[in-house]
Amino acid sequence: MSKAIIQHETGGPEVFKWEDVTISDPGAGEVRLRQTAVGLNFIDTHLRDGSYPLASLPATIGFEGAGVVEAVGDGVSEVSVGDRVGYCFALGAYTQERNIPAGSLIPLPDGVGDKEAAAGLLKGMTAQYLLRQAYRVKAGDTVLIHAAAGGVGTLVCQWAKHLGATVIGTVSSEEKAKSAAAHGCDHPINYETEDFAERVQDITGGKGVQAVYESIGVKTFLQSLSVLAPHGTLALFGHASGPVPDEYFAKIPMDRYYIRTTLGAYTATREDRLTLAKDFFDVVAQGAVKIEIGQTFPLKDVGRAHAALEARKTTGQTVLIP
Ligand SMILES: NC(=O)c1ccc[n+]([C@@H]2O[C@H](COP(=O)([O-])OP(=O)(O)OC[C@H]3O[C@@H](n4cnc5c(N)ncnc54)[C@H](OP(=O)(O)O)[C@@H]3O)[C@@H](O)[C@H]2O)c1
Repeated sequence: MSKAIIQHETGGPEVFKWEDVTISDPGAGEVRLRQTAVGLNFIDTHLRDGSYPLASLPATIGFEGAGVVEAVGDGVSEVSVGDRVGYCFALGAYTQERNIPAGSLIPLPDGVGDKEAAAGLLKGMTAQYLLRQAYRVKAGDTVLIHAAAGGVGTLVCQWAKHLGATVIGTVSSEEKAKSAAAHGCDHPINYETEDFAERVQDITGGKGVQAVYESIGVKTFLQSLSVLAPHGTLALFGHASGPVPDEYFAKIPMDRYYIRTTLGAYTATREDRLTLAKDFFDVVAQGAVKIEIGQTFPLKDVGRAHAALEARKTTGQTVLIP
């Protein structure tokens, strides 16, 4: 018998229940994974509260984890029993054990611990597609990343700096400003106390930025558009403050690029997933990007982790221990 987080309804963090579950033998093409660490992502809050629909209830949510392969089903060639692996974007992570398609697994290099993999894979692969594909950062660019001290934010700041960009980041407190600065953010701006668009124009001498990586949504979208340099790109990849209303998209100025992105669009095949993960592990191995575990919670207390994430009390990555 093992334990998993089950939600029987959508709602606040209190909907999570720690219950006994029976895991069947893995089917064809699947493996059974004993999880040693699970990642927490902002998207989990959207599934928990119902703002993103769940296919059915009861449900076990969570997209990211790491562990050891315990058993393999028929036809599995990608991994073997005993392998240390991670994954992202495979729903059902909030559990001690699970069956999972073998093709979604990513072998972990020796230098990356299970906790780091579970905390960083989804966010690191997101940083990869944002910085290398949605808008490909060049040395000499200036870019703006919101929530610069958050999970995705700390990775994007470090990687963008490594690519030779000047990095401007928004944060909600002085403590988070220090954390962002320690992770490659050249110009942290407290967007609770300062007009970030004015500050960006001051910092860039009125030229604006080549890219905005926008994950706050309704609260910042229009100001983010206003700081784009001619031919600059706004990549919308989240909406922590609420979705962007349709009428805002009509305000995108001429000569600016806009892309709405999701990791799923860049990880459709196993080859894509392995390529993104390799790029991420390479910058980690070089020491250019560090996966900073800002806080750890027992998986059974994941409700507390959600409350902290939604209250903007977390920094860096968050890991859940099953
Ligand atoms: N599309 C994709 O492929 C993809 C993949 C991964 C993540 N995402 C998105 O990227 C963003 C970051 O994800 P993450 O998991 O790394 O989370 P995170 O950045 O660790 O946490 C979210 C941060 O957003 C900021 N925020 C601003 N307004 C907020 C509000 N009203 N409520 C809560 N937080 C608010 C807070 O930072 P401050 O306190 O500094 O403001 C908070 O710490 C999320 O929007 C997520 O949905 C998208």
